[in-house]
Amino acid sequence: MTPEPAPDLAALAAAVRTCTACPELAATRTQVVVGDVPAGARLLLMGEAPGATEDETGRPFVGRSGQLLDELLAEVGVARADVAVLNTIKCRPPGNRAPSRAESTRCRPWTERQLALAAPAVVVALGLSATRWFLGPTSLAAVRGTVHDARGLRVLPTYHPSAALRWGPDGEPRRLLRDDLALAASLAVGA
Ligand code: URA
Ligand code: SF4
Repeated sequence: MTPEPAPDLAALAAAVRTCTACPELAATRTQVVVGDVPAGARLLLMGEAPGATEDETGRPFVGRSGQLLDELLAEVGVARADVAVLNTIKCRPPGNRAPSRAESTRCRPWTERQLALAAPAVVVALGLSATRWFLGPTSLAAVRGTVHDARGLRVLPTYHPSAALRWGPDGEPRRLLRDDLALAASLAVGA
């Protein structure tokens, strides 16, 4: 059982750092990657799960995917420091395997509570895993690049930066991820 989510972001961070609801992840992680929620952030990016660099540093999206994300945010005129960044689950799965259904379910109350407390104007779901976390079974092709309502949140699904890295600097995923971040940034300002 995930413990009862906390009343504010600081209390939540303290509680989630000691969460052991997923035994395998709790035994293999270096630390819990709670996520970044700067005060007043209107844009929130949702990833899947921490990777090796995130597990080492305790911060979301600081490895290769994070570096590309920072670069693309800068290209569309957004400072990373103004953006909230979360993952659907907070502990690194060993070997970067996908989170299991049980892990995703256990961590959901934490992430839901973070979303409620952050109250972003626009959420960008990075990749299929985050997209399904919000929208349920779907394909990225079906939903990418348009705004969807997920229980009162405006969610824009797009490629994960790892897809953009895989396809390279001239690949379509990089271009579309950049376009989608630009759209999300403009919606967040206008909302
Ligand atoms: N990939 C993710 O989905 N999240 C991170 O924090 C890093 C890589
Ligand atoms: Fe707890 Fe989430 Fe980590 Fe599982 S992934 S141990 S629910 S913080």
